[in-house]
Formats: sequence, structure tokens, C-alpha cells
Amino acid sequence: MADLEGHFDRTIARDQRIEPRDWMPDGYRATMVRQIAQHAHSEIIGMQPEGEWITRAPSLRRKAILLAKVQDEAGHGLYLYSAAETLGADRAELTDKLIEGRQKYSSIFNYPTLGYADVGVIGWLVDGAAICNQVPLCRSSYGPYARAMIRICKEESFHQRQGYELLLTMMKGTADQRAMVQDAVDRWWWPSLMMFGPPDDASPNTARSMAWKIKRHTNDELRQRFVDMTVPQAAVLGVTLPDPELRWNPERGHHDFGAIDWSELQRVISGDGPCNAERLARRRAAHEDGAWVREAAAAHARKAAARAAR
Ligand code: 3HC
Repeated sequence: MADLEGHFDRTIARDQRIEPRDWMPDGYRATMVRQIAQHAHSEIIGMQPEGEWITRAPSLRRKAILLAKVQDEAGHGLYLYSAAETLGADRAELTDKLIEGRQKYSSIFNYPTLGYADVGVIGWLVDGAAICNQVPLCRSSYGPYARAMIRICKEESFHQRQGYELLLTMMKGTADQRAMVQDAVDRWWWPSLMMFGPPDDASPNTARSMAWKIKRHTNDELRQRFVDMTVPQAAVLGVTLPDPELRWNPERGHHDFGAIDWSELQRVISGDGPCNAERLARRRAAHEDGAWVREAAAAHARKAAARAAR
């Protein structure tokens, strides 16, 4: 056993990848299943907020772009459930845990999309935050997860660009359209900062995840990176980020920003966000409505196996 642990530790220390057949500590396996499953749940639930605007997109072009993006999120979820299965997780069990509230998904998807500008702001801010958080995960120590991230990040950058381009178009529009964009920015800015998780001194998982090189940066480091990236983009767009304390700090070489309401994050994580009940109810209904497909596929597989066995 000592040699197995030694090999695991040396692999991590050398920045090499842990693969499915490698020995790994139970805690590493459990942490990877936890993070990958919740990431997958986030992608699947994340289809709902923007999905509500597919039928109301203002043009065929916008409808086609939004359709492609929402389909991408579904694909990301399936990709990540497959990565979780390489660790021995059971996909059906993970879905049950999500539906029964026994596993988390990202807080950000518990906010409503009140107007079409929300579609652009989600692309710009939420997918922009996802890129900040997920690009380092391309170097995560668990092989299947890191490799899944490479393709997912490429698609996320399309998501972020289409959102920003949508907002640039609206900001060249009428005063009402510009006001819609600013209203959406006001509502999505702080929840986007919360996506990165609690502050480092209140993050029970970060130290161990950093030691195992699952995470390559802490929650606060990535949050700061996102703020520094987004401020100039907001200036080009011509919107105001809703934080009077946001300013460049030359000593730090970063933007200072105001205090985040951590009680809001805890409320939303614990199920008391604006849309938690609706999101889970819709996921439960979709799962139940799809039961006949799973049963038919299983029956077909049994028949195929019986034929092959003859
Ligand atoms: N929403 C919901 N739960 C959150 C959260 C958030 N924004 N931030 C933290 N949490 C939870 C954690 O899951 C953990 O609970 P758990 O132990 O029961 O899992 C607890 O709060 C403490 O947080 P930690 O910082 O200690 O936990 P982590 O080290 O796991 O860090 C994380 C949280 C930064 C989200 C990390 O898990 C991570 O990087 N995950 C991978 C990326 C991901 O899941 N992103 C979610 C958005 S998906 C997305 O953006 C899709 C795109 O298409 C828009």
C-alpha cells in the first residue's frame, strides 16, 4: 500500500495525470466524483434559464445561436457524467442525488432570466466566469476531467463571445435596449462573483483540492482574475458594473471591489434562491418524462444481448 501511495504522490508532484485505472486515495476519488458530478449537474440545470428564451429570440440567427449554446451545455453535462463514471460513479444515482437535493449545482442558475438581455449577460458574465474557472481545470490532475475541460472550454469561449456580441448590438440600439442591458448587468454581476465559491478562508475543500492539483488556483484568485478581465470589457460595452467600490489598485495590480453578500450565496446553495424549486421540479419532470426512453433502450439492449448469446 505504501508503494501505491508513494506512486500516487509522485505522480501528483510531477504534474502528471491520475488515470481511471491508477490507485488513488478514497478521498481523492470522492472529491473528484463530488466536483465532476456537481459540475455536470450545473451544466444540465444551466440549460433552463436560457432555454426559456429560445422560442422568444428576436431573429432566426439569434434563435439558432441560442439553440446551439443550450445544446452545448447538454453535451458538457453528458461529457462530465461520463468522466464521473470513470471513477465508478453511477449516472442514474447522480441524477437521483441532484433531483433529491443531495448534490449541488451552481448557485448562478437559480436566478431568473427576466429579459432577452439576460441571454447576452449570461453569455458574457456567467460563461466568462466559467472560462476563468475552467481553463485551469484543463490542467487538473485527474486525466478524464482535464481532457473533458479542453473541449468544454473551447465551446465556452464561443458562448462568451456570442453573449458579448449580442450585448454590443443591443448597446447600439435604442435607449430602452440599453436600459435592458444595464438592468441585466445589475442583476447578474454579484451572483457571477459568487459562482467562484466562498472566500478562501471559508472554503473547506480548497486546501486539499490544491494539494491534489485538482484545483490550480483558489476561489479568490479566480474571482479576482474574472473581475480584472471583465472591467475593461464593461467599459467597451458602455455599461456600469454595480459596485461603487470597484476601482483599479495600482499597488495590488488588481481591481479592488466591494464586499460580497455571502449570506446570499449560502441561502441560494441551501435551496432558498429565487428559482431553486422551479429548476429542480423541471429537472425531475424531464427525468420522469424520459423514463420510457430509458426502459425502451434497456429492453432493446436485453434483446440484443439475448440474440448475441444464441
Ligand atoms: N454554487 C453551489 N455550490 C457551491 C458554489 C456555488 N457557486 N460554490 C461553492 N459551492 C459549494 C461546494 O460545492 C462545496 O460544497 P460540497 O462540499 O457539498 O460540494 C461548498 O460550497 C464549499 O465550497 P468549496 O469552495 O470548499 O468547494 P470547491 O473546492 O468544490 O469549490 C467550485 C467550488 C469553485 C465550484 C469548484 O467545485 C469548481 O471549480 N467546480 C468545477 C466548475 C463548476 O462546477 N462550475 C460551476 C458552473 S458550471 C458552468 O459554469 C456552466 C457554464 O456553461 C456556464
